[in-house]
Amino acid sequence: MLEDWQHGGFGVYVHWPFCQSKCPYCDFNSHVSANVDQKRWFSAFLSEIERTVVGLEGRQLSSIYFGGGTPSLMEPWLVEGILDALKSKFLIANDIEITLEANPTSVEAGRFQAYHDAGVNRVSMGIQALNVPDLKRLGRLHSVNEGQDAFDTARHIFDRVSFDLIYARQDQTLDQWRSELKQALAMSVDHLSLYQLTIEPGTAFGDRFSKGGLAGLPSEDLGADMYELTQELCEAAGMPAYETSNHAAVGSESRHNLVYWNSGDYLGLGPGAHGRITQYGHRIATETHLAPGKWLDAVENSGSGESLSRKQDGFEAQEEALMMGLRLRSGIDEVRFEQVLNTKVEKIQGLKEIGMLETANGFLRTTEQGRPVLNAILRELLAG
Ligand SMILES: C[S@@+](CC[C@H](N)C(=O)[O-])C[C@H]1O[C@@H](n2cnc3c(N)ncnc32)[C@H](O)[C@@H]1O
Ligand code: SF4
Repeated sequence: MLEDWQHGGFGVYVHWPFCQSKCPYCDFNSHVSANVDQKRWFSAFLSEIERTVVGLEGRQLSSIYFGGGTPSLMEPWLVEGILDALKSKFLIANDIEITLEANPTSVEAGRFQAYHDAGVNRVSMGIQALNVPDLKRLGRLHSVNEGQDAFDTARHIFDRVSFDLIYARQDQTLDQWRSELKQALAMSVDHLSLYQLTIEPGTAFGDRFSKGGLAGLPSEDLGADMYELTQELCEAAGMPAYETSNHAAVGSESRHNLVYWNSGDYLGLGPGAHGRITQYGHRIATETHLAPGKWLDAVENSGSGESLSRKQDGFEAQEEALMMGLRLRSGIDEVRFEQVLNTKVEKIQGLKEIGMLETANGFLRTTEQGRPVLNAILRELLAG
């Protein structure tokens, strides 16, 4: 298993940790900062690229992903500079996917052409809702029209575009979600990410919720009905889920996501970015300082933003692969993951007997019934 990361490909994740404002539901590593010196950040990213590529030069890169935060706040020259540096270090797959996460305001849409010219070929846009009151509740800065216009601009510039919606929002009914999702499917091209709202501790929503606020969240049953409806409508529209929250036409899946879920290798650049690299016979898990200022200071003063670098033992790497791979609808290759699966034969058999897991074409995967309760299945598989 250690030697076969190539099955999953090799990607680079670049984290841009800044946003124009903090959305009340979001627990990503994202911060509002009035002054960001992008030249200083550029030097730090270049230094981190030099540090992390050692021993990896010449590998073929299948994906680069600018995530955030809000990478569409990066100056296009900064995106281009990072891409040029990466391209000078690695072989670039002919069909490399280069994604940038974008917020759909008109200012950002104005930069799309320049990102395209810099080499970005896929945009993933956080539209979140298609009605004004819900956009306001979610703390979003864009209007419905602005979101749709930005998406239109993106689809004319980029071959591949996706957008995110959050459902199971306060006071949302099943019928409202049905009509909103139909509208989204009519707008979409070939990829959609549909997330159920989760209330994360430490966020503004988390604080309100713990004080008994945030009325009108859907019951567990309504949430499950919304999930089921989502699967039905997306399937019917030719965009089945290839992962819990990600839907695509066949062949349009996000290659970057697939690197994670197929246990490929990836470098993590920027604050709080995680990496997994197979090198010298080991799979190494890396992390960087989470706070943007701390990361920047560490890179500038000590030549490294890394806060952790740890060898995973073979079993840990396989357990992680199991957790990631079962998120995929296609499941995991029973031969590739034989070592970990052999230690869980009884549990897997039990989960098969109650209709949660099945084997198809040599792959172990969740059933239709098992998919909505993936977290419970993973807890059972990984316990003890
Ligand atoms: C890194 S964020 C998105 C990037 C971009 N800054 C934006 O907001 O448009 C990735 C996506 O995760 C989803 N997300 C974030 N927090 C969530 C939560 N608490 N519940 C459900 N979805 C969430 C949103 O759909 C968001 O677009
Ligand atoms: S959802 Fe996006 S824009 Fe909002 S705080 Fe999180 S990363 Fe920033």
